[in-house]
Amino acid sequence: MGAVVVLGSLNIDSVVEVERHPQPGETLIGGDVVKHFGGKGANQAIAAARAGAKVGFVGRVGDDADGDAYLQRLASFGIDTMHVARTSGVPTGHAAIAVDGSGENTIIVSPGANARVTVGDLAPLGSLGAGDVLLCSLEVDTAVVAEAVRIAAARGARSVVNLAPYAPLPADVLDLADPVVVNKHENALLWADDLVPRSVLVTLGGEGSRWGQNVVPAQKAAAVVDTTGAGDSYCGTLAAALAAGVADADAMEAASAAAALSVTWLGAQP
Ligand code: RIB
Repeated sequence: MGAVVVLGSLNIDSVVEVERHPQPGETLIGGDVVKHFGGKGANQAIAAARAGAKVGFVGRVGDDADGDAYLQRLASFGIDTMHVARTSGVPTGHAAIAVDGSGENTIIVSPGANARVTVGDLAPLGSLGAGDVLLCSLEVDTAVVAEAVRIAAARGARSVVNLAPYAPLPADVLDLADPVVVNKHENALLWADDLVPRSVLVTLGGEGSRWGQNVVPAQKAAAVVDTTGAGDSYCGTLAAALAAGVADADAMEAASAAAALSVTWLGAQP
């Protein structure tokens, strides 16, 4: 059974429930602000750990109380934080999130320390080997993600690359990833950029997910409270299943089940 190494972001999410999302230039009154742990990287790492994987994290937090809290948070899920570095004078990443009555969200990310992750932070990837999975998302510098995928490939490890938030990656990197994970919107942007990765898994919300010949229906959520963490739960669980040697379609089933569960609570993480 391989390990999962996550390269990605750690954010503190400030979440406000709203009846509907504001138009540009409009002010709305929402509910009380609630703080949750978030960030695509950390959400995915926690999903992978909950799915049973041995997980290590490569990223950055600020040298602040939020950074302290986040290191404890990851450790409480058994995630190896040895390679989460501290950046002085820069805040831990934050996200401002509005969630409406149907669970749909809008997110503004202030990257803070996440934007200070460099290629110099990738030394731990030297321990990757066959069977391991590198899981990346794009709230850290895309040049760093590209280099990480190349290092993983050189070491015989698999890369799962969640192209969220969407940014184009070099064609060689898109061809190394197996799979590139996109939602419908990101998939349209890939096509618009004329980029065709070798292996693409498209998540289709309530319509399920598609990866090559594998088409897996969505699992029905008991209740939809907040969809913020659904994509990350999917990616983290998928990576854990692939690292465990599970067949692609079964890994997608497990990921769909985790995504359905994740929408039943407010916030991106359990
Ligand atoms: O994917 C959801 C995440 O996006 C949130 O937790 C927020 O921090 C942003 O990174």
